Amino acid sequence: MRIKELFINNFRNYKSLHIKPKENLNIFIGDNAQGKTNILEAICFLLQGRSFRTSHEKEIINFDSEQSKLKTELKAYNQNYSIDISLSRTKPKIIKINNSTTSKPELATNFGTIVFTPDQLSIIKGSPKERRRFLDLELASFYPQYKYYFVNYQKVLLQRNNLLKELKEKKQADTFDLLELWDNQLISYGAKILMARMEILKKLIPMAQQIHNQITSDKEKLTIRYRSSLNLNSNFREELIYDQFREVILKNRQQDYLKGQTTVGPHRDDLVFLINNKNITDFGSQGQQRTIILTLKFAIINLWSCELNDVPVLLLDDVFFELDSKRQKYIFDLLNKDVQVFITSTGMANTEKNLINIKKNAIFNVRSGLVCEEEL
Ligand SMILES: Nc1ncnc2c1ncn2[C@@H]1O[C@H](COP(=O)(O)OP(=O)(O)O)[C@@H](O)[C@H]1O
Ligand SMILES: [Mg+2]
Repeated sequence: MRIKELFINNFRNYKSLHIKPKENLNIFIGDNAQGKTNILEAICFLLQGRSFRTSHEKEIINFDSEQSKLKTELKAYNQNYSIDISLSRTKPKIIKINNSTTSKPELATNFGTIVFTPDQLSIIKGSPKERRRFLDLELASFYPQYKYYFVNYQKVLLQRNNLLKELKEKKQADTFDLLELWDNQLISYGAKILMARMEILKKLIPMAQQIHNQITSDKEKLTIRYRSSLNLNSNFREELIYDQFREVILKNRQQDYLKGQTTVGPHRDDLVFLINNKNITDFGSQGQQRTIILTLKFAIINLWSCELNDVPVLLLDDVFFELDSKRQKYIFDLLNKDVQVFITSTGMANTEKNLINIKKNAIFNVRSGLVCEEEL
């Protein structure tokens, strides 16, 4: 995917902006609070129909304006597209692809962006929920059915938990047959989710390990494990997952009844990250944790290029912060590829500027909502 033109109107601190990004690296440099991240937010908004910063979309409209407009001309899957979004303080958001009105989910499944922001350290440092969310969001691009299974699993889980609470309140431990109906559906949607997660991780983990070796010059060995309430091994098959899930659900019925909730299943699983066999959540430095997140994002881009017909646009916010110069250089090397990247940074030394392949790249200076392309 390639953004050819970007128009931003009354969005955050931009009154009006028009830029023509280059094919590969586009680096936005400026002091704090000048509008660098706002540009990445606008791109994400155009491609996914949502912000990575806020769910209160009205916040995005420029303080002095009633409405905000975003537009891009881009190439995706070897075709040209235009996307228009209008946000208003009083009316619902309008999204158009090639001048036809469309919806946010359609946008999100058609056009890909991979976003890295400092907040995403929560994938490593946060609760298991954050790691499952990361996995589920990225998975949805590769399995069109995933969202359907996921939404249904959540619905059934809620029903089953409600019934468990009811049984507990009424002290009806002997009426487990009522659970049977929910169990069957939970197991069948859950097995699909587990199957997709296992399949994707089987491909993603070796890619991530290879990239991580490169970034850390083979000094840090990355291990990623999927920790499940089921005993899954690498020779998984859907029927086996299904049978095993049934087994643990039946085994844990008494416990579920006592706790009033479903204690096993993909909603309880987690990803574990180890560096040289030490858990990175507990022992990793910020730099190491950032390196893993970046590694995962790069691995997902690789996976896109292997599995889908195009690669997403990569948005990297404040990516070089807390990474040593060696790691920064490896990241530049990895980025000098066939992916369009938008990077923000507060500064850049001349040595780093020299690393850049000039023809396909641009440096933009950002100051108080004004953007000026630097001569390279
Ligand atoms: N709705 C808005 N209208 C006008 N300015 C805004 C709005 N939302 C945020 N800003 C301004 O945008 C600036 C922050 O931009 P940001 O892109 O986050 O900066 P940085 O260059 O540090 O990444 C701040 O000055 C903030 O006041
Ligand atoms: Mg910023």
